[in-house]
Amino acid sequence: MGDPDRFLLAGVMGWPVMHSRSPLLHNYWFKQHKLAGAYLPLAIQPAGLAAALRALHPLGFAGCNITIPHKQEAMKLVDDVDTLAKSIGAISCVLVRPDGSLAGTNNDCYGFIQNIRQEQPGWRADLGPSVVIGAGGGSRAVCYGLAQAGAREIRLVNRTFARAKKIAEEFAGPFKVFPWEQRHEALDDAVMVVNTTSLGMVGQDALDIKLDKLPARALAVDIVYIPLETPFLEAARKRGNPTVNGLGMLLHQGRRAWQAWFGIEPEVTAELRAAVEKTIPDGKP
Ligand SMILES: NC(=O)c1ccc[n+]([C@@H]2O[C@H](COP(=O)([O-])OP(=O)(O)OC[C@H]3O[C@@H](n4cnc5c(N)ncnc54)[C@H](OP(=O)(O)O)[C@@H]3O)[C@@H](O)[C@H]2O)c1
Repeated sequence: MGDPDRFLLAGVMGWPVMHSRSPLLHNYWFKQHKLAGAYLPLAIQPAGLAAALRALHPLGFAGCNITIPHKQEAMKLVDDVDTLAKSIGAISCVLVRPDGSLAGTNNDCYGFIQNIRQEQPGWRADLGPSVVIGAGGGSRAVCYGLAQAGAREIRLVNRTFARAKKIAEEFAGPFKVFPWEQRHEALDDAVMVVNTTSLGMVGQDALDIKLDKLPARALAVDIVYIPLETPFLEAARKRGNPTVNGLGMLLHQGRRAWQAWFGIEPEVTAELRAAVEKTIPDGKP
C-alpha cells in the first residue's frame, strides 16, 4: 500500500468461476477507495490449482479467494493454515506474504455472523436452539460461527447423518444431531433455522421442509444467494418469519480478505448490496 506505482491485484480461483459475484464486489471497493487495482475471476481446473497458487507471488497478487471445488484441496497446498481454517476444514482466502509464502484462512464464518448482525441487529446466538440444515463446507463455517458466538444448542440435520455427526464430534459445541426424517420436528422451539444445503439454489430442487413447528418469530436464514429469495425463505417470509438471505455472507467475508490483502476493512453498504443484487436472477420462472 502507499506505492503510487503499485497496481493491486487479487482474484478468485474456482471451476467454474464465472458465476461468482466476487469480482463485482471487490472491483466496487477498488473504485470506492480510489485505488488502482483489479480483482479477477481465475478459472482454474483442479489439476492446475497448485501451479496457479504458486503463480500468485510472481504475478504480483496480494492474494485470492478460493471457491468451489478447491476449498479443501487448497488447504493442503498453502504453506500455513490458521487454527480457524483448520477447525472448519477448508480455506476460503489466501494471503501472499512478502517472502512469497502462502497463508490460508477461512472468512466464511465471519461473513455468516456479520451478515446476521447487520441484518438483524437484535440477534444473539444464545437466545435459544438454532437448527442448521446441511453438513457440507458451508455448514462447517456456520456451525463453527454459531458455536463461537455462544449458541447454547445447535440442532444439526443432514441427509447423510454421518457427516453431521462428524461435525458434532469435531467441534466443541452444544450439538444435537437429528436424522434427515426429523428435520420438520427439529424446528420446534427454535429461534433460528439456517439452510446450508445447496437446495434452493438455481437449478436445484427446493429444500423440502415443513415450517409448521417453527415459532413465528424465529429467524430463517439461507446461505444460498442465487436466487436471493430461495423457496425456503419465501415460505418463511409468507408465514411472517424474519429472513436473511445469503448474499451478505459473501459480502462480509470479502471485508476480511481486504483487511489481509490491503490493510483496509471496507464497508458493506446498502448501495453495494443493491449493485450486486441487481445482477442476481430472481429464480422465478
Ligand atoms: N453465501 C455464501 O457466502 C456461501 C458460502 C459457502 C457456501 N454457500 C452456498 O451454500 C451451498 C452449499 O455449499 P457447500 O460448499 O456447503 O456445499 P457442499 O459441501 O457440497 O454441501 C452440500 C450440502 O447440501 C446437501 N445436499 C445436497 N443435495 C441434497 C439433496 N438432494 N437433499 C438433501 N441434502 C442435499 C448435502 O448433503 P449430504 O451431506 O447428504 O450430501 C450437504 O449437506 C451452495 O449453494 C453454496 O453456493 C454460500
